[in-house]
Amino acid sequence: MWLRHPLRIGAIAPSSRALGRKMAWQIGNPDGKRVVELGGGTGAITRALLAHGITHENLIVVERDPVMYQALRRRFPSLPVLEGDAADLAGLLTRAGIGPVDAVISGLPLLGMPAMVQQAILAAAFAALGPDGKFIQFTYGPSVPVRPGVLGKLGLIARSVGRVWRNVPPARVWLFERQPTG
Ligand SMILES: C[S@@+](CC[C@H](N)C(=O)[O-])C[C@H]1O[C@@H](n2cnc3c(N)ncnc32)[C@H](O)[C@@H]1O
Repeated sequence: MWLRHPLRIGAIAPSSRALGRKMAWQIGNPDGKRVVELGGGTGAITRALLAHGITHENLIVVERDPVMYQALRRRFPSLPVLEGDAADLAGLLTRAGIGPVDAVISGLPLLGMPAMVQQAILAAAFAALGPDGKFIQFTYGPSVPVRPGVLGKLGLIARSVGRVWRNVPPARVWLFERQPTG
């Protein structure tokens, strides 16, 4: 699948364990945390989230590609895997009867998406997140993987939380949060 469709997937290889771990650590203490993973792909980050201590009931995976979706369902039969577009996260969670979440972990190829799509995905993610919710994204590029203006329009700030060399290619992890008020 990966070798046949790298462009559809948006990466040249599955995320490494080191990258999955770095993403999962951003959640902090996993106790009771409810997490959405966007673009579950092969399940590399899904596995890292479970290893970090996010429970099966508290991890929801969203995948748009029907083939990847079916593979994720087979690989993780006890997880709620939702088939659909990350930009429709509110609709997907409502239909599944799932309320606010503490963190959204994204394996989406956000960097290559048009500004409108980036904005729709981030707006949907922050609508699902509670007030202190975090959006965690990796990118292969050197800077924030969102086009100019998108973060400001949504009242968000982003900071790099480090580089992961043990990944092909090396990746950087970014944390997006709401701008503090007052
Ligand atoms: C880079 S890959 C997956 C990364 C994953 N961490 C892994 O190692 O397998 C990105 C995934 O996002 C999915 N995807 C892309 N755009 C999407 C969207 N708008 N909504 C949901 N999933 C999407 C793709 O189908 C693909 O499976």
